[in-house]
Amino acid sequence: MKNVRTEKRLLKALNKQSVDRPPFWFMRQAGRYLPEYREVRAQAGNFLDLCYSPEKATEVTLQPIRRYGMDAAILFADILLIPDALGQHLEYREGEGPVLAPITDTAALSQLTPEKIHDRLDPVYETVDRLSSALPDETALIGFAGSPWTVACYMVEGHGSKEFAAPRLWALQDEAGFQALIDILVESTVAYLSRQIDAGADAVQLFDSWAGVLSDDQFARWSIAPTKAIVDRLRESHPETPIIGFPRGGGSKSREYLLETGVNACGLDTAMSASWSAEALQPIAAVQGNLDPLTLVAGGDAMLNQARDILNALGGGPFIFNLGHGIVPQTPPEHVDELSALLRGE
Ligand code: CP3
Repeated sequence: MKNVRTEKRLLKALNKQSVDRPPFWFMRQAGRYLPEYREVRAQAGNFLDLCYSPEKATEVTLQPIRRYGMDAAILFADILLIPDALGQHLEYREGEGPVLAPITDTAALSQLTPEKIHDRLDPVYETVDRLSSALPDETALIGFAGSPWTVACYMVEGHGSKEFAAPRLWALQDEAGFQALIDILVESTVAYLSRQIDAGADAVQLFDSWAGVLSDDQFARWSIAPTKAIVDRLRESHPETPIIGFPRGGGSKSREYLLETGVNACGLDTAMSASWSAEALQPIAAVQGNLDPLTLVAGGDAMLNQARDILNALGGGPFIFNLGHGIVPQTPPEHVDELSALLRGE
């Protein structure tokens, strides 16, 4: 019988098997840079309604695959659906990003409803189910969630920030209280990702977008430890499903992150040295990254030469080509086309 799972280039790379060329996909490959996304987004009205519509979320997940033939599709959803499903008030404001009613003390934790998250998240599982039948056989489907630290950053700060001082201070001043929030997020994330895998996700990614604001000891405590807890639990229930971790801003701590969490691959942000990653990380696990998303705005040689340098530095080991962070809205779709052609070997 044909084993479709292992024929997917992305899964081969995650399992350290040889591939004819490195698989590629792009962080935030669905989004505002695509006119067809903006059209569906306008019909949906608000962003949360788009995330919770299986029909529309399936459509926008497929849009970049139709144009560019990436080796993986990433479920269209958001890392903040977990706080929303836990009952925390969340809205996405035009030009401002996500705004939540901030959680500032342990008393507020008792109002969260971890036992009810699936009621709200059911349409997401339906989207995964639809995608797993709609995607071409060779295209892997990546499910995802935010890592507990990054999700807690938004829950406690109440909005985006460069510093996330409020969660960092809480973690320093009341370690046990903050741990109680992290525990809720570990539980919810395991339940959420398990359901995504059951519905057809081939691999899952944990986005720790704000790991880079943590000092060494706090990184071990709040990025590595909760990630390890999630990985251990998912391995028990879903041993075959590869897990990608992305500790953005983790720098040289990424090595310890890989060794201790046991993830199959480490996402590299734009600032990471490719040659250091080849030496220090690829002997342990696959790496994924890390073209500067602004090179896709610039296009031309600035983009193609940097992409070739990354392929040369990392293509010899287990590797998934990606960006160092998300595609930005002002990216010309033709530049994504040109880069995809290079990566497909055309
Ligand atoms: O193709 C894809 O990657 C789409 C799926 C996806 C989205 N968000 C859709 C989205 C994924 C994987 C995410 C992850 C996410 N969300 C992260 C981790 C990755 C990273 O960027 O570091 C984070 C931190 C968030 C939280 C979030 N969601 C913010 C801060 C914002 C506002 C900033 C922005 O880009 O607008 C969002 C909104 C969001 N999530 C949009 C999309 C397409 C834009 C909303 C819109 O269309 O109006």
